[in-house]
Amino acid sequence: MKYEVGTVILSAGAGTRMNLSLPKPLAPFLGKCLVDYPLSQSIKMMDKVAESKSFTGLVTGHGKDLVEDYINENYKNHKISYAFQAEQLGTAHALKCYFDQIEDARNCEYTLVMCADTPLIESEALEHLYNEIKSNNLDGVAATFEVSNPKGYGRILRSGSKGFHIVEEKDANEEERKVQEVNSGMYVLKTSFILEHLYSIGSENKSGEFYLTDLFKDDFNVAPILFENGSSFIGVNNLEQLEKSEIIMRKRIISSLREKGVRFVDSRHTYVNTANIGERTFIHPNVSIDYLSVIGKNVTIEPGSVIINSTIEDGVTVKAYSHLEEVTLRSNSVVGPYARLRPGADIGEESKIGNFVEIKKSKLERGVKVSHLSYVGDAEIGEETNIGCGFITCNYDGANKHKTIIGKKSFIGSDSQTVAPVSIGNECFVASGSTVTHDMEDGSFAISRTKQVTKDGMAKRFLKSK
Ligand code: UD1
Ligand code: CA
Repeated sequence: MKYEVGTVILSAGAGTRMNLSLPKPLAPFLGKCLVDYPLSQSIKMMDKVAESKSFTGLVTGHGKDLVEDYINENYKNHKISYAFQAEQLGTAHALKCYFDQIEDARNCEYTLVMCADTPLIESEALEHLYNEIKSNNLDGVAATFEVSNPKGYGRILRSGSKGFHIVEEKDANEEERKVQEVNSGMYVLKTSFILEHLYSIGSENKSGEFYLTDLFKDDFNVAPILFENGSSFIGVNNLEQLEKSEIIMRKRIISSLREKGVRFVDSRHTYVNTANIGERTFIHPNVSIDYLSVIGKNVTIEPGSVIINSTIEDGVTVKAYSHLEEVTLRSNSVVGPYARLRPGADIGEESKIGNFVEIKKSKLERGVKVSHLSYVGDAEIGEETNIGCGFITCNYDGANKHKTIIGKKSFIGSDSQTVAPVSIGNECFVASGSTVTHDMEDGSFAISRTKQVTKDGMAKRFLKSK
């Protein structure tokens, strides 16, 4: 055989119960898509048991182009083939499309069948299924689990002898519906066994669909493999199951972080989707961190902060209610409370960004301070420069953005503006209330405000009483 294992992920369904504008495999899940999870876990499992002798195929239907584009874009290093199921006539029909349209599908000793809508599946479970079929020399195994409310799942009916069969909810009688062992939709089968039986499956059931589950019969050499941890097999068919599954997945991430030494004040109210957080980092409640962010050691993230696709180095403090998107905070910098850091903000080591400061597309070197109420956009600021309160880089002329460059160890007085393009040298001093429109040489001083006029006793002309 050319391949040891081939995986097919059934992903043609519309997911109408989800009520999303996207095809179900692309339903957002912790920042990625639903299909990413079964796909990446099957790749992990196959790399382990079959190394290069493995193969992946997807059956697409609804939103075919969107799904295929997404996968081609995100799995460039993997060869993934597609079969198209124009009409969703059932899971067995989907499998037929796979074998009819992808030549290599038949060149696999074993076939792992998965559904795109089971994001919590782990590669270890898939490996276990594969080991069971091989070590017991079976023709097929189905992963099963027990639930208190089996509604919607196919019920597992074990026969006294060797095999078993599956009855779908719609076709089950009252007795059968009580069975709490259910079908996960995950199977490993000998490819030769599938090809022998798949084409004789009919659609004589309540749904009029071709059921893949009909591959299992009481007198066949097949077995249900019961898994203890059923939550790994939850199928996502509606928004409630989507939310529940995301919560379970997030709990897994948080547990693995805690084991590594990340501390949470109350993880029930913490939305952490990345496993890239260093030890002794301390995360307060109501913090959201997306899956693309990378956070170092000894970082403190205070309540209400939102961190998107950002890199935070060791020893940083993000004070309460800060919003960070596509930014880099270098080691030991402090930002917030209430800081808004927008794409391209690169905050140097030991810098300090205070409250109500907005920074966009700007590089701040080590030890820069922008402590209060400022806007810094399209700027470069040198080491240890201090920016006073209420400073603004006027970077936009109505048509184009321009750059502001400020050297090191300069002092920009409060309530000043720079009208870009403009540059200020090293060790300059800008008096407060100034508008800087001309470049400043190193060591220069600038002031651009009108002189103060004071008239004794004249205030009463302006003070009004009620
Ligand atoms: C299926 C199983 C059920 C099991 C449950 C586990 C069958 C008949 N039933 O039911 O026993 O308990 O999964 O979650 O297999 N799909 C296609 N083409 C089709 C139909 C479905 O590609 O024509 C895909 C869907 O996109 C989905 C997967 O197959 O990823 C499962 O289909 P779904 O309609 O969700 O099946 P369930 O009713 O959940
Ligand atoms: Ca399903």
